[in-house]
Amino acid sequence: MTKTILTGIRPTGNLHLGHLFGACNNWKKMQEEYNFFLEIADVQALTDNFNNPLKVRQNIKELVLDLLSVGIEPSKVHIFIQSKIPEIAELTVFYSNLVTVSRLFRNPTVKNEVAQKKELFGNNGESITYGFLGYPVSQAADITCFSGEVVPVGEDQLPLLEQCREIVRKFNSIYGETLKEPNPVLSNEKRLKGLDGNEKMGKSLGNAIFLVDDDETIQKKVMSAVTDPKKIKKDDPANPDICMVYYYHKIVTEKEDLENVCKECKNGERGCVACKQELIKNLKELLEPIREKRKYYEEHDEEVKKIIEEGTNVAKEVAKENMKKIKQAMEIDY
Ligand code: TRP
Repeated sequence: MTKTILTGIRPTGNLHLGHLFGACNNWKKMQEEYNFFLEIADVQALTDNFNNPLKVRQNIKELVLDLLSVGIEPSKVHIFIQSKIPEIAELTVFYSNLVTVSRLFRNPTVKNEVAQKKELFGNNGESITYGFLGYPVSQAADITCFSGEVVPVGEDQLPLLEQCREIVRKFNSIYGETLKEPNPVLSNEKRLKGLDGNEKMGKSLGNAIFLVDDDETIQKKVMSAVTDPKKIKKDDPANPDICMVYYYHKIVTEKEDLENVCKECKNGERGCVACKQELIKNLKELLEPIREKRKYYEEHDEEVKKIIEEGTNVAKEVAKENMKKIKQAMEIDY
């Protein structure tokens, strides 16, 4: 039997190279082998964007276009919108009885995110909302609503998966074997650093290359990438291992060319500007087919709408069936 994959992504912005190499390429491989549900997690996005609903709304279409443009195949993956499946919200309420508040406060992912969102949740998290604190519960509902067995995620998400597994075990121990325990699969790539060497990439940091960036933007971003500070003159030898241009070459440049880049850099035979130009050329080559696909879908709005609608319909059917079993187990199938 084909296993079911469920993963989600928050519609809060366009995808960048970090998403492509960290998540999307992995999903593309998995879409060939699994029954794949890909959730556009708008309800989850609202947990820390409740005061900015238009941001979430506008990014749904952007995200779907990005996903289609990288080669997520709508014939293989059910792309659906979280808020269109009320069963998920219903399940979240049921599961909230199976989780203690202190356990949620101890969840490392929640803790980290609260610390990063001082503006929203206060310096010590004193203004954290019930909804945000509970989003691991809602994520457990996302997964189990579709009997997701395999959940591809980044490392930062592992505590959420552990919390989901705990909820599943607790549910099964009280109401009888009903839910499947999901297994996380980590994407094998390391998290991509920004062009400035920052561990985090983001729009506001200006250190990420987005799939929708045009040539001029890419040119500007790569030109400002951080290189070996000891290299002053064009033919000074340098250390590629501390250069973000080389770091990106390692990701997008063919192996033989890459060896050349490394050797020439170390020997002082390659100026940073030329090196950056070569990276820009390779980035454009990488993005070319992605841009083409995006253009197609931008021009076929009805087709995109239909993809989301069909994905959501399949998700609805599965959620309904599953909900029946869950309500039976909980003795609320009146
Ligand atoms: N929390 C995930 C993230 O921020 C997104 C997500 C929502 C998700 N629902 C999910 C991931 C279910 C895996 C499974 O990246």
